[in-house]
Amino acid sequence: MNEKLYYPNKELAKEARIKNMCEYNDLVEWAEEDYEGFWAHFAKEKIDWFEPFDEDKVLDESNFPFVKWFGGGKLNVAYQCIDRHLKTRKNKAAIIWEGDRGDKRIITYMELYKEVNRFSNLLKNEFGVKKGDRVIIYMPMIPEAAYAMLACARIGAIHSVVFGGFSAEALRDRIIDADAKVVITADGAYRKNKPYMLKPVVDTALAQDTPVEKVLVVERNNEDITWIEGRDFSYNELIQSQSGECEPEIMDSEDPLFLLYTSGSTGKPKGVQHNQAGYILWAQMTTEWVFDIKENDTYWCTADVGWITGHTYIVYGPLAMGATTVMFEGVPTYPDAGRPWKMVEEYRINQFYTAPTAIRVLHKMGEDEPKKYDLSSLKVLGTVGEPIDPPAWKWYYEVVGGGRCSIVDTYWQTETGGHIVSPLPFATPIKPACATLPLPGIFGEILDPETGERVPVGEKGYMCVTKPWPSMIRGVWGDPERFVKSYFGDVKKDGKPVYFTGDGAVYDELGYITITGRTDDVINVSGHRMGTAEIEAAIKKHPNVAEVAVVGRPHDIKGESIFAYIVLKSDEGLGDEVAQVKEINNVIKSEIGNIALCDDIAFVPGLPKTRSGKIMRRILRAIAKGEAITQDTSTLEDPSIVETIQNKVKN
Ligand code: PRX
Repeated sequence: MNEKLYYPNKELAKEARIKNMCEYNDLVEWAEEDYEGFWAHFAKEKIDWFEPFDEDKVLDESNFPFVKWFGGGKLNVAYQCIDRHLKTRKNKAAIIWEGDRGDKRIITYMELYKEVNRFSNLLKNEFGVKKGDRVIIYMPMIPEAAYAMLACARIGAIHSVVFGGFSAEALRDRIIDADAKVVITADGAYRKNKPYMLKPVVDTALAQDTPVEKVLVVERNNEDITWIEGRDFSYNELIQSQSGECEPEIMDSEDPLFLLYTSGSTGKPKGVQHNQAGYILWAQMTTEWVFDIKENDTYWCTADVGWITGHTYIVYGPLAMGATTVMFEGVPTYPDAGRPWKMVEEYRINQFYTAPTAIRVLHKMGEDEPKKYDLSSLKVLGTVGEPIDPPAWKWYYEVVGGGRCSIVDTYWQTETGGHIVSPLPFATPIKPACATLPLPGIFGEILDPETGERVPVGEKGYMCVTKPWPSMIRGVWGDPERFVKSYFGDVKKDGKPVYFTGDGAVYDELGYITITGRTDDVINVSGHRMGTAEIEAAIKKHPNVAEVAVVGRPHDIKGESIFAYIVLKSDEGLGDEVAQVKEINNVIKSEIGNIALCDDIAFVPGLPKTRSGKIMRRILRAIAKGEAITQDTSTLEDPSIVETIQNKVKN
């Protein structure tokens, strides 16, 4: 709250900064005065429509919260990302790829056009994929992952990328929920100079009945894999004979573009649905505004395409605007904590975008590493995915950015499609660990959930968006009720339900927004969003687990770590808790994946429950943090359990 403001890049005259900020204010006012006019203007300016949208149908809210944008418009997202650039940028690098072991590929817009068209033809002609079919992409960070996404977009198939770190069980759940008929994968890839495998995970996921008919395998690391005749096909072979021309499918503004599964506070992960026009519009606009990418710039986002950041800010946003986007297969700390800075020097990266966890690790492992490299090309540094703490922010600002670069702390979610709260570089004065202001066109407000009023300065409230925006989630795949309940059930403003993000936030005296973290049972581990219910369901699969409650615990590097309280059915084997912990984590590994492993497990005789049987998680959170219990425990069925658990955890 009391941090000073920073004005990076002294050379950028004060007047220019003020001008930028005035432009910001103008845009905000414009959106306030003529919301639909504002969006219609940008939709016309930014998108190459096959057929223009109807001026009377910019926003249709008649079936709120099921909204429609840009009715009557026809477009193709792959065309927007590739074809339209060929006139002016055919030889410009679209993707610069660096592999784990330092191997490199540069793909121009012309090459991207050919690759994506060949891929589209393969899916259409060899696999019979049609408009509206769901295709799962379970891939490492290789250019073919981006080709696959764009090929689906080109032929109107709905992709659902599953992060390569998810287990067979998690992959299978998503395949079944999406009712997908094709899986695109790779044999494997490399991490820290060692091969790791993906295809065997797909094999396990498909071992029981699924709707999948065909599997396409990109041969990346050429390790031995099993091929199932009639189901598995080699991309490397089939792609050879495909034509490099494929007419883009003509899509309606509101045809689905992709599903991306994400965790909520209850139940299984939900398939967040994004549609064509609104999504690509905001992906492109925010990439332009927030990263300030110029024609000759090289932009690098370190995310994985398995997450929304990879979708919007590695693939769709940068390509829609015709930028050069860097894709990286490796680990930022391998072979040492200088890897990202070496790459910045080598490719003269201008915008660098990563997660606070990565910044904390790079800081810890190589405080002075950035000084060994020429980082003078950097202009904008971004963070995303979790709250960043002021020390990490300051190191990023001073040591990596040399005090010249603007830091954009971008706040958004899978559901928002693109940034919703972020500074604009060299306009918004920035403050450590603060996402600052809603972007123009986004009516982001911190509301009191009881009254629906804006909270006063310094008071925590719920981060909401009070008007629909083009890239907002269109639905939860196959479950319209869950969509309404998950996002529009908690807060009303002027009697009308508004979109609630699930995050708490607070205003400072400038009206700046600081995100304080989730208000629900979602944990954010290293920027990865995990539902406690999901982890609990996994742990319950262990035959000796009677009850379990999972909470988050603050962690120096990861932001939060996973803490599980487990009641066992029998104490047998409890003598060896180390082995039990290992067993529990093995179950999590096979049900979800390594990203959901518990850092702490406490085997306890019972859980703190109210007389009606509700687990008091707040108490468990306080114990995990080592805090004193301030809650009233008299309503508990067995108040003495609190001390028992405390003692257990202390030991
Ligand atoms: O809690 C917020 C946190 O990440 C959640 C969204 O996670 P996901 O859908 O996986 O998308 C991650 C990439 C956008 C949010 O509900 N979060 C995201 N950005 C920030 C953040 N928390 C604080 N500051 C941020 N800049």
